[in-house]
Amino acid sequence: MFEKLRQEVSVLLNREDLKTDIRLQQVCDLLKNTVPHYDWVGFYFKNGDKEELKLGPYAGEPTDHTIIPFGKGICGQVAVSNQNFVVPDVKAQDNYIACSITVKAEIVVPLFVNGENIGQIDIDSNTPDPFTKEDERFLEFVNKEVAKILV
Ligand code: SME
Repeated sequence: MFEKLRQEVSVLLNREDLKTDIRLQQVCDLLKNTVPHYDWVGFYFKNGDKEELKLGPYAGEPTDHTIIPFGKGICGQVAVSNQNFVVPDVKAQDNYIACSITVKAEIVVPLFVNGENIGQIDIDSNTPDPFTKEDERFLEFVNKEVAKILV
């Protein structure tokens, strides 16, 4: 599944006739609609010079958490750690921002442009403990492809 998806993501992101946000939106839709354990897929980006993340394109239920301060929640922690954060069980996390009661697990992978952490891809799953190294490698690939169109 991920091999074919990699190709589809690359094709979408290379659509130079479409604005960046439209391409990112299509990537979110593609991932959410293709991967059974991806129930919410979104990008957060550093909000200008502020120490906070701002929600960008996403697919899934609308969330109240359109701004997340650095350090808060899983997303805010990744903004400062620069590391992937895989959460098999969100209930076991004390620094977690709940978006929906149906969410069981989450993965956040930072997005680097020229070595700088400028945002992240965030996936919520309604399936407990669904994420593997394969998800990590795939989402790192997606972010590298996105980084190419942001520079
Ligand atoms: N759960 C995230 C907040 C963002 S929502 O999942 C869309 C967190 O703890 O940072």
